[in-house]
Amino acid sequence: MQVQHFFDPATSTITYLVFDPVSLVGVLIDPVLDYDARRVRLHTTSADAVAVAIDALGVRLAAVLETHVHADHFSAMAFFRERYGALGVIGARITEVQAHFAAVYGLGAAFPTDGSQWDRTLCDGESLDLGPFEIIAHSTPGHTPACTTWQIGELLFVGDVIFMPDFGTARCDFPAGSAEQLYDSIQRLYRFPDHFRLHTCHDYQPGGRELRWVCTVGEQKATNKQLGSDTPREDFVQWRQERDAGLNLPALMLAALQVNIRAGALPEPDASGQRYLKLPLGRF
Ligand SMILES: [Fe+2]
Repeated sequence: MQVQHFFDPATSTITYLVFDPVSLVGVLIDPVLDYDARRVRLHTTSADAVAVAIDALGVRLAAVLETHVHADHFSAMAFFRERYGALGVIGARITEVQAHFAAVYGLGAAFPTDGSQWDRTLCDGESLDLGPFEIIAHSTPGHTPACTTWQIGELLFVGDVIFMPDFGTARCDFPAGSAEQLYDSIQRLYRFPDHFRLHTCHDYQPGGRELRWVCTVGEQKATNKQLGSDTPREDFVQWRQERDAGLNLPALMLAALQVNIRAGALPEPDASGQRYLKLPLGRF
């Protein structure tokens, strides 16, 4: 398999294009839709650059996958599904995230919370057969309940579970997040063979170091600054909970989630054609 990464410096997000070099069948993981807060405008500069690469390589995009419902950026899933006729895929526990945030935004009964905005929602252990290769879903909750690690051969796309060893692990204070579950999810990743490669959804470049996005299971087990293979569960959970108690919400969270729980589709326009994002004042 070939992997090409795309880095969005505005949100430190890494999008992956993964494709079979023989058949050119590929998938895209965690694409970003840009948001210009000063002009209150979404745009597709990042997505356009990814599309140029897909077209130049001749990749036939079969699916767009989310590792989870992102709180720090808008998803470009709708852009790529429409442009390439690709399947939209997310973990099956998306329904729990939808139900929670439908209430936060007051979306009412008209908003489906059954995951039907995606083409496929995969449970733990289910796989998606794309012909030349398959993708296996591993439920890795903790950061959010719907977090899913996508396995393609010896490659693991972990989303926000773990980051590079010098940055550590994901926060667990979002609704239905759990430091205990994150610990168990990371231990699950550590049971893959040491040479398997973990690809993260973000890299925050601590200390201004060069961008990194991939690391072996063995390197994480030996050097992750917050959770190595021998870190006791109680120690990690206590540390994570104390750390999370001091964190602010991501700047784009309440704007982005109402789009991301719709698989990247925008809220319906009013009679004049104007679309709105809602912000629940005082709710968090
Ligand atoms: Fe996240």
